[in-house]
Amino acid sequence: MRIVLIGPPGAGKGTQAKRLCEAYNMAHIATGDILRANVRNETDLGKLAKSYMDAGELVPDQVVIDMVDARIAEPDAQDGFCLDGFPRTATQAEALQELLTERDKPLHRVLQFVIDDERVVHRLSGRRVHPPTGAIYHIDFNPPPADLDAWTLVHREDDHEDVVRNRLEVFHKQTAPLIGWYEERGLLSKIDADGEMEEVFGRAREALDAAADA
Ligand code: AP5
Repeated sequence: MRIVLIGPPGAGKGTQAKRLCEAYNMAHIATGDILRANVRNETDLGKLAKSYMDAGELVPDQVVIDMVDARIAEPDAQDGFCLDGFPRTATQAEALQELLTERDKPLHRVLQFVIDDERVVHRLSGRRVHPPTGAIYHIDFNPPPADLDAWTLVHREDDHEDVVRNRLEVFHKQTAPLIGWYEERGLLSKIDADGEMEEVFGRAREALDAAADA
């Protein structure tokens, strides 16, 4: 299955993507994770992306499109993938459609994670990530295991409230218009992303199973 997850920062896309990828045997392609790995490794791409990411702005379209083009050509993505954080602009959505049409691998579903802005500000203030494994925790809702070294956990630079508010604004201006674009193409399922992680997972599965049966 080939799917896209769209939603504001902190909606739970990464959390659910990991579980959905296991359940449906999809490659997890998270553009934010790929960019952050490049920043950590101080590659040219990472050096270019860092200032945009720290400010909560989008990295230029062509950079991200080329990155996704290369990633979906990798062997583990041939049986399916979950795009988490891409596309985020009209240009990226059009480029994705072209790339997938050329490969005769159309999208099966786009899941829109719906959640209130204030909820995500709270979620992101408590998020801690574990770069060596990619695990995502929350100090209240999903605490890290007690035996994990606290120093290996990271509070992302862009999770500070002022940057989160800018990311939300960027989402509403540049990414939210894609929701209508996918709805017109009959690909969209809206998922209520508020509630326990298990409940949200159940809603996402229901939407994917319904799409597969249709
Ligand atoms: P990216 O890493 O993609 O960030 P994002 O989309 O803003 O999403 P987040 O990772 O912040 O949130 P999430 O929805 O995955 O939530 P999570 O599951 O972690 O992008 C970062 C930056 O990279 C961008 O700002 C941009 O600069 C650049 N970039 C990336 N892609 C790009 C593109 N296509 N074009 C241009 N630039 C791009 O959950 C959040 C927290 O909530 C966690 O602590 C989690 O434990 C908790 N949580 C999750 N679900 C629940 C629940 N049900 N109940 C309670 N808590 C929950």
